Amino acid sequence: MKILNFGSLNIDKVYRVAHFVRAGETVASAGYQCFPGGKGLNQSIAAARAGQKVFHAGTVGEDGLFLLDTLRKGGVDTRYVRTSGSITGHALIQVDDAGENCIILYPGSNFENEEEYVDEVLRDFEGPDILLLQNEINGLEQLLRKGREKGLRIMLNPSPMEERLKGMDLSAVTWLMLNETEGREITGESEPDRITDCLLQRYPDMRVVLTLGEKGAVYRDRGEYLRQPAFPVRAVDTTAAGDTFTGYFIAAAAEGKKNGEALKLAAAAASLAVSRQGAAVSIPERAQVEDMIQNAE
Ligand code: RIB
Repeated sequence: MKILNFGSLNIDKVYRVAHFVRAGETVASAGYQCFPGGKGLNQSIAAARAGQKVFHAGTVGEDGLFLLDTLRKGGVDTRYVRTSGSITGHALIQVDDAGENCIILYPGSNFENEEEYVDEVLRDFEGPDILLLQNEINGLEQLLRKGREKGLRIMLNPSPMEERLKGMDLSAVTWLMLNETEGREITGESEPDRITDCLLQRYPDMRVVLTLGEKGAVYRDRGEYLRQPAFPVRAVDTTAAGDTFTGYFIAAAAEGKKNGEALKLAAAAASLAVSRQGAAVSIPERAQVEDMIQNAE
């Protein structure tokens, strides 16, 4: 059983600001750092740090070749990653004093995955392998369709949220990993229980993981309803917390952990990521996550 993450690779340019810049305003940044990132890359590293064999597929430009080193050092297999002639996707990230962020995303080479390339990669995977997807690359609907045709179990993190996702057929999705904002956009509901009710009405076989920030997370499928509180930490930078949660959860599910254990591991890992700066560099090792859980019990 293998995990294939067909996902984005970004260069994150991170600016510390006292508050997010407003219309017409110029603010001086108190700090600047350049990090490896992208929801795809972050989730691959999280799943690998959690202990799973992860293959990453996606496209970088020449300026993003260092992202491959980051993946490899993070224990991710990069044989399927391609290089194109254009600019690597990048994110301009403001982080404020409360550790919250806001992001401008330039998709760049993340939107250059052609159908032949997708087919070539998918040829090496079959059910019950897992296909992990986010919404930072082109061809998402095509990947959902082809993944289902191959009998792959699909985890979709519909992030970042955008209009086209609202009407998208998600019946190929085994696990839907989303936050409250994404849940509201997809279902039109704002209460966590109503969001999960609505998703299960539309897709009765779906397993829904709804993250609630500092309020923790909820797991729902047709037979199980679980709640997991967040582990309290001092927030330094929330960037990639959701990606850490996603990667850890899918790795634990692939390992055969019960849903409650997978939720707990994912919540602890995400809390540790929030207490550190950066995206991929903030993702903890499995041993650190287990220590956190043990210390909390
Ligand atoms: O989820 C965090 C990620 O979102 C960042 O690494 C940035 O690249 C954006 O894609």
